[in-house]
Amino acid sequence: MINIQIGGNCKTKIIFVYKDFDNAIPHIVKEVFDASFLSCFPLIQENSKLVLYVGLENRNEFNVRKMMDAVAKGVKQLEKYNQQEAEIDLSVFIEKFGIKCIRNVVLGVELGLYKFSQYCTENKDNFFRFFLKGIQEDQAALAQECLRKDENLAAGVVSTRNLVNTPSNLLTPDKMANAMKLEAEQCGVQVEILDELQIAAMGMGAFLSVGNSSGNPPRLIVLRYFAAPESPVRTALVGKGVTCDTGGYCLKSRDSMLGIKGDMAGGAAVANAIFTLAKNGIKTNVVGVIPACENRISRQSFTPGDIVKSMSGKTIEIQNTDAEGRLILADAVTYAIRIEGATRVLDIATLTGAVVGAFGFTTAGVLTNSDLLWHELEFAADVSGEQYWRLPIFPEYEEMIQSKIADIKNMGEHYCGTISAGLFIKAFSENLPWIHLDIAGTAWVDKPVFEHQTVGATGASVITLYDFLSTEAG
Ligand code: BES
Ligand code: ZN
Ligand code: ZN
Repeated sequence: MINIQIGGNCKTKIIFVYKDFDNAIPHIVKEVFDASFLSCFPLIQENSKLVLYVGLENRNEFNVRKMMDAVAKGVKQLEKYNQQEAEIDLSVFIEKFGIKCIRNVVLGVELGLYKFSQYCTENKDNFFRFFLKGIQEDQAALAQECLRKDENLAAGVVSTRNLVNTPSNLLTPDKMANAMKLEAEQCGVQVEILDELQIAAMGMGAFLSVGNSSGNPPRLIVLRYFAAPESPVRTALVGKGVTCDTGGYCLKSRDSMLGIKGDMAGGAAVANAIFTLAKNGIKTNVVGVIPACENRISRQSFTPGDIVKSMSGKTIEIQNTDAEGRLILADAVTYAIRIEGATRVLDIATLTGAVVGAFGFTTAGVLTNSDLLWHELEFAADVSGEQYWRLPIFPEYEEMIQSKIADIKNMGEHYCGTISAGLFIKAFSENLPWIHLDIAGTAWVDKPVFEHQTVGATGASVITLYDFLSTEAG
């Protein structure tokens, strides 16, 4: 439990200091503390107040992501000193970023202290309280409003982490659908869940080829939030919801198995971005489409060499059962366009190992047929602090997924796996503006890269999706 409020006092205080603005710190601290990024120094004052100094490096190089990291570092130190509450001095942040800095302070606190401990019998969840200081009287009302919205955003990232960290035995497609339904109903998002019979009736042969591989049947989760009736734009957010990816008959190796429960990170990000848009009353029209299923070995499993018919009518040659994400996304994109009337499509998925090879764990790969969508994404990422990089679509790449015995095949050649996977989905986008985010590297970390991450799910892209749709909403 974490409680954050504007104003208030307690016996501990966190103060942030730039390296090149060090006149704010007492002399004795200066001798041992150089304010390099994420350096910390505790000082017990005469009145027995504990002041924790956290270094920010130079002011010019400071940015929103570093702020989140510095705050996370500071609040995590409290555990070391057995403290459960602290004042956080926002002065330096307000001076550089204005009152909007509250967002990254809230995120730094909530994400830095995040623990996935709900299945530990002994309750390891601590209670923390924070008091935000340095806010002028005339900004107090605005600060309160920011705090409320930013707490909703942080809750969206936390809830994404929780879903992604929950193992496959506890989060089957049906359970994920129910969890999302519950949340949707609480924040005024309309929800419809299609079961395996309805999915079959829609002709979603590509989705079903994967979904039928398991005794835990697939679900198509549809979330509708239409809050801008005067706007002709209807954005589809389509998120991969594979709750368990063993690879199917093209079985994964033992080492690659550990991350298989996190293969629904795209779907979880889509749902939580939409819930946050609704909670914060953002005026936009968005439909979330999340194909949820398992990819397993069974008597019903699809096999390499199969030809399946997608909802679009296109036939697909299955070359690799482990390339299941693009199959379920293809039908979900067709559904979003033909049934939900999407005017543009964003899909997001833990789609390829190749994107991890290219960009590691800090940057998601992007493919798009629209410069405008790319610029909107870049703009959103600038606000969120997350990193994306665009990959090219050259004609020879599109040839990689041509099949001789069907309309298209679900694997390219050995190389450029992220591009061929993305282009497979593009083939179902019916020439609408389309953008694809491959978050296989960013959704999960075995070794945290940033202070606001913990081992496991990161909640990647929730904030960028939220900003993408709220910036456009004006
Ligand atoms: N879910 C995986 C991709 C993945 C890899 C996610 C590593 C997170 C970490 C996806 O379904 C997959 O297995 N892709 C294959 C595609 C290949 C068979 C064409 C891959 O990337 O190896
Ligand atoms: Zn796979
Ligand atoms: Zn997968």
